Amino acid sequence: MKPVIYVTRKIPDDLLEPYREYADFHMWEKEDTPVPRDVLLREAASADGVLCLLTESIDREFLDVAGNLKIVANMAVGYDNIDVQAAKERDIVVTNTPDVLTETTADLTFALLMATARGIVEATDYVREGRWKHWSPYLLAGSDVYGKKIGIVGMGRIGEAVARRAAGFHMPILYHNRSRKKTAEQELGATYLAFADLLKEADYVVSLVPLTNDTQKLFNKNAFEQMKDSAIFINASRGGTVDEEALHEALVNKQIRAAGLDVFDQEPISPDHPLAKLDNTVCLPHIGSASEETRSKMINLCLDNLTAVLKGDTPITPV
Ligand code: GLV
Ligand code: GLV
Repeated sequence: MKPVIYVTRKIPDDLLEPYREYADFHMWEKEDTPVPRDVLLREAASADGVLCLLTESIDREFLDVAGNLKIVANMAVGYDNIDVQAAKERDIVVTNTPDVLTETTADLTFALLMATARGIVEATDYVREGRWKHWSPYLLAGSDVYGKKIGIVGMGRIGEAVARRAAGFHMPILYHNRSRKKTAEQELGATYLAFADLLKEADYVVSLVPLTNDTQKLFNKNAFEQMKDSAIFINASRGGTVDEEALHEALVNKQIRAAGLDVFDQEPISPDHPLAKLDNTVCLPHIGSASEETRSKMINLCLDNLTAVLKGDTPITPV
């Protein structure tokens, strides 16, 4: 009998096809809604492997009902939705999707930085709403990017890829990370700073840090107070790294200039979310790795991890 893989969201059939010889796939068929919790738990009971998204909480309750489970393949590089310790206790492998999404996510992060700095979204609305009557010297005048200091918090693969883009814009690169990154220091001239020093120095503070117990609400009231009043804050990691009330207050009080946010504490957000209502924010619906090419690569990597483990081989990208 072939092993059973449960896929928690509809994925394209042509991607699944080559893997059907190794496994039987059960799938939540709706493209745009997460699988209800009761369905997920029911399916977990008979699954040997699960391909899940960051919308699913893979916690002890889930793992306890999943008696046959050997692997959870998360279609994301971040895996704060998974209780990795609980999986380990049950000898269940957890994999994520690093590398394949690095450049795509760095592109989006940099695009968000530029869009926020230059008011691209506001400017588009300005044209579409028929408000463009004259050209004037300070019309929609934003902040420069070229030559300004970028401060990257979380210098992992994506952080380094953002730093490479910043180098092309002649931005001095500051970073904070758990460990020093000698290659980035040597090749990009990146300067390591303590967190508080980076906040004080950077014109652009970019969060790319994974969400862990240590980084919960890392960007709090105190952090925003230390930033320049001209600083622009960009978050492309997880909403949980930010105290959103403190960010809102900092934006309203002009303690910082603007924020570009791809992620939020509770997703999705509605148009009534306090941060979405400000005119100095750019809010995106968590699309960091969302290019067609990369999303397909992420799915393929999940399927490769699943079939490897279910065949008894070692996973390609275990966490
Ligand atoms: C998306 O946020 C990811 O972690 O891949
Ligand atoms: C603006 O369009 C300029 O020519 O400076």
